[in-house]
Amino acid sequence: MAIILGLESSCDETAAALVTSDRVVLAHKLATQEAAHRPFGGVVPEIAARAHVDVLAALIEQTLEEAGLTLNDVDAIAATAGPGLIGGVMVGLVTGKALAHAAGKPLIAVNHLEGHALSPRLADPALEFPYLLLLVSGGHCQLLLVEGVGQYRRLATTIDDAAGEAFDKTAKLLKLGFPGGPAVEAAARSGNAKAVPLPRPLVGTAEPHFSFAGLKSAVLRARDAGIHKPEDIAASFQQAVVDCLVDRTKRAIHRAHGATALVVAGGVAANQAIRTALEALAASNGLPFFAPPLWLCTDNAAMIGWAGAERFALGLTDPLDVIARPRWPLDPDAETVRGAGVKA
Ligand code: KG4
Ligand code: ZN
Repeated sequence: MAIILGLESSCDETAAALVTSDRVVLAHKLATQEAAHRPFGGVVPEIAARAHVDVLAALIEQTLEEAGLTLNDVDAIAATAGPGLIGGVMVGLVTGKALAHAAGKPLIAVNHLEGHALSPRLADPALEFPYLLLLVSGGHCQLLLVEGVGQYRRLATTIDDAAGEAFDKTAKLLKLGFPGGPAVEAAARSGNAKAVPLPRPLVGTAEPHFSFAGLKSAVLRARDAGIHKPEDIAASFQQAVVDCLVDRTKRAIHRAHGATALVVAGGVAANQAIRTALEALAASNGLPFFAPPLWLCTDNAAMIGWAGAERFALGLTDPLDVIARPRWPLDPDAETVRGAGVKA
């Protein structure tokens, strides 16, 4: 049994966790920077990086203390090395390097997206490779065939905004608060999802790619029309996202040869309407459905520790001069998608 210290600092959560190779989360600590970014309605990279510096060392100490362990008891240190806001990524990665060097332990440079992608396996030992993964977060919206640790085949991606980005922009437009996803979900609960006609971009097209920019513009027009309640716009928006995710995922199921399960992960996977709709889609295709518990969907260090444990078991450690990467696709061979404002 191996014990891995995981560190996460790629966006606006600073986190540390101790995770074992047999799926026990011994301790996990998280400090959110929400309050610091709230006045700006989005994450400010410079503020984020400084805030990670302020709290990371103390979080690591608290995590070790809660587990009753010292650095000597740890088998390896796993830190997010990208993709993300580079200032924040460097804080966590350099901290991981320093601890690894000081304690004479191996370093594992974890791809944050791999943290999300493997998190459902931390939550449930029944989930085996290969599986079809809908990875939906603030920066990414992809369908991936997860064939193994470090083995990803991207079947689709967004040609403009990520799903979480659409939630965040909608929340901002409707003045629902920050962070946007949970605020839109809460407002949608008291709204009518059929009240506002909104588009379902790319639904029905052959390639299972996503697009959310047009949906955001439609939300803006609906707001400016001045006739709809914000709750109705929020509910209609959420339903449009659900319909897009379900249609695109359904199409990808037919291309995900050999997939043994349908899995959703990433911050947007915390959305109950999305979970319920995907579960139904999986059932109607005879696939088991896996979604991590809510705290494992949004950014955390347990998923980084777990990805570290999976890599450590395969002997995949990294040298101390490993670099921090603002961009780091899971499938480097995936083709660039034709469309406006293409993102990696
Ligand atoms: O995975 P994550 O914590 O950070 C990234 O790696 O991006 O995802 C954050 C995203 C944000 O856009 C946030 O608004 C969204 O996930 N999110 C949600 C919900 N909770 C978080 N979106 C919809 N419904 C939610 N309940
Ligand atoms: Zn994330």
